[in-house]
Amino acid sequence: MLQHDDSPEDPCAHHDSQRQADVSNPSDAPSLDVLIARRYSRRALLQGVLGASAVATLGGWPGARRATAAEREGAPSWSASMTFAGVAHGIDAEHHVARGYRADILLRWGDPVLADAPAFDAHAQSANAQRRQFGYNNDFVGYVPLPYGSQNSEHGLLCVNHEYTEARLMFPAGSASSAERVAIEMAAHGGSIVEVRKTGGRWQVVSDSAYARRINALDTAMRFAGPAAGSARLRTRDDPDARRVTGTIANCAGGITPWGTWLMAEENFHYYFGGKLDGNPEADNYRRYGLPSTRYAWSRHDRRFDLAAEANAANRYGWIVEVDPYDPLAVPVKRTALGRFRHEAAANTLGKDGRLVVYSGDDQAFEYLYKFVTAGKVDSRERAANRDLLDDGTLYVARFEADGTLRWLPLVHGQGGLEADNGFHDQADVVIEARRAATLLGATPLDRPEDVEPNPVNGRVYVMLTGNHRRGHEAVDAANPRAANLWGHILELTPHDGDHAATRASWRIVIGAGNPRDPATAAHWHPQTAENDWFACPDNAAVDPRGNLWVATDQGSRWHLTSGSADGLWALATDGEERGRARMLYRAPVGSEVCGPCFTPDGRTLFLAVQHPGSDGTEAFTGFGRRSSFADPATRWPDFDDRTPPRPSVVVITRDDGGPIGS
Ligand code: FEO
Ligand code: CA
Ligand code: CA
Ligand code: CA
Repeated sequence: MLQHDDSPEDPCAHHDSQRQADVSNPSDAPSLDVLIARRYSRRALLQGVLGASAVATLGGWPGARRATAAEREGAPSWSASMTFAGVAHGIDAEHHVARGYRADILLRWGDPVLADAPAFDAHAQSANAQRRQFGYNNDFVGYVPLPYGSQNSEHGLLCVNHEYTEARLMFPAGSASSAERVAIEMAAHGGSIVEVRKTGGRWQVVSDSAYARRINALDTAMRFAGPAAGSARLRTRDDPDARRVTGTIANCAGGITPWGTWLMAEENFHYYFGGKLDGNPEADNYRRYGLPSTRYAWSRHDRRFDLAAEANAANRYGWIVEVDPYDPLAVPVKRTALGRFRHEAAANTLGKDGRLVVYSGDDQAFEYLYKFVTAGKVDSRERAANRDLLDDGTLYVARFEADGTLRWLPLVHGQGGLEADNGFHDQADVVIEARRAATLLGATPLDRPEDVEPNPVNGRVYVMLTGNHRRGHEAVDAANPRAANLWGHILELTPHDGDHAATRASWRIVIGAGNPRDPATAAHWHPQTAENDWFACPDNAAVDPRGNLWVATDQGSRWHLTSGSADGLWALATDGEERGRARMLYRAPVGSEVCGPCFTPDGRTLFLAVQHPGSDGTEAFTGFGRRSSFADPATRWPDFDDRTPPRPSVVVITRDDGGPIGS
């Protein structure tokens, strides 16, 4: 997703003065609310003219120690194993991949998903067509092999989230009524399941697949399960039992469970609801999540998004949705035990005793890192036994101590003040207001948690903090050591006793992003980091089968302040002497961010989702210098056809010689 104080719809979003406040946590609202652009002119940033005094006040890197001898022992040399030559910084209308690799377009917005989908025509869109076609702004990409249980790396299902829509790039002027546009937008949200196969070394979509499915915000029937299912706070006139819900929105990143289901994370659900909060009993709860923040006209056409008509409407979104891609008829389930917040993702792994552990960041400045540990163990033999595993377990939130320890605090009704006196009458209240519960427990506000990725090879967990320009000098702490952190950093957690289910861990910082040659950034990288081998604003992440971490960036409209380069996908060394070294494999076209890095089990194919090409920060793109629109976009990637706007697309990366990506 874009930097969240930029609106996908608001034509004034690029004016700082009209931006929505991007902090909802009242307990940690910064007293020093500075925009970095005001403090450091662009020229100063690019030329690195700020002196050592500025560096000193920007803080050090506690916890950023070098690897110990024991940690280095036996670790392969990353620079020897990462054989590709990195792509250089830059920005243009095209995408770029390292020499010796190819990047092919696999699926574009509007491509057929269901067999009866009409061919895409950007000038003749309809909701009926869009609900059969690939949706907009692809984000998470998951790969599940066919058949189930195999490690097949040449035939499987792609599970792709469609996070949000952007009318100014989607629709030609005057092309549809407001009601039809809203229906198209709803149909373009959600997700797609697409069967893919590698034939003759090239990946192709299987066009008549029995698995093909579109999940959307318009009419996909779902159900609630877990502690909030049946809660009075989820009731609406259409759903008096609070058990059924139509649609999913803001599906950002996600996860694939060990039993092959797809977890879709509902992230920026606050954008979708209209109607005043006056007199609404949920008003305080909603404000904590950043509502009201109407970026869409949906509430004018559909009571599901109208808080005046349905006071509880916004309690029905912000959850993790579980979908079974192997069963096209399976009803998706909102698993409320995992809490309600702006879930970035839901990557998961096993605890020592076989319970599932799901990590999830809450993507907003000064919000928290969570994990959910199931009560039961994963049944690796009988798939169906895991059907309701995610409904019973413990949700935890992270507290980072300055001494490098981390405590996971349980969000359990009746414990730690989560009681009736504080407005928590049962576990439903705790999960519905997970943010407020986490604040009460003393969780650590972070610099915008994005993706969280466990590494099954080294047993550690990587937390992408994408940046937080609002953190004031007085608010820095060990885990967030930079004020006005425009560039973000990456935390590494080591679970106690190697057990992801443990309530303790240790933590340290892998890198502090930003230009290491510019003292104003106070960046932290491997000391031999070369000119092009650094990035800003880590967002999505993946771990390849050999245990290498891959990081995708999203600088949003501030890219010219953070790196001066387009976003991309990077390999990042986390072990041994090479720790903190990065190299760019793929660079995206102007205005886009890179989402969904996803490897096949053999590591020889990498799927990427290029989101919102031509959208973010094109005013600073030399030679274009203005805001993009349908008729006048900064790029028409990937089609470069004069009638067609830029199309968010899934890209498939392979090596020319067919070898594993990166090595
Ligand atoms: Fe949807 Fe936080 O990216
Ligand atoms: Ca993201
Ligand atoms: Ca982002
Ligand atoms: Ca990920």
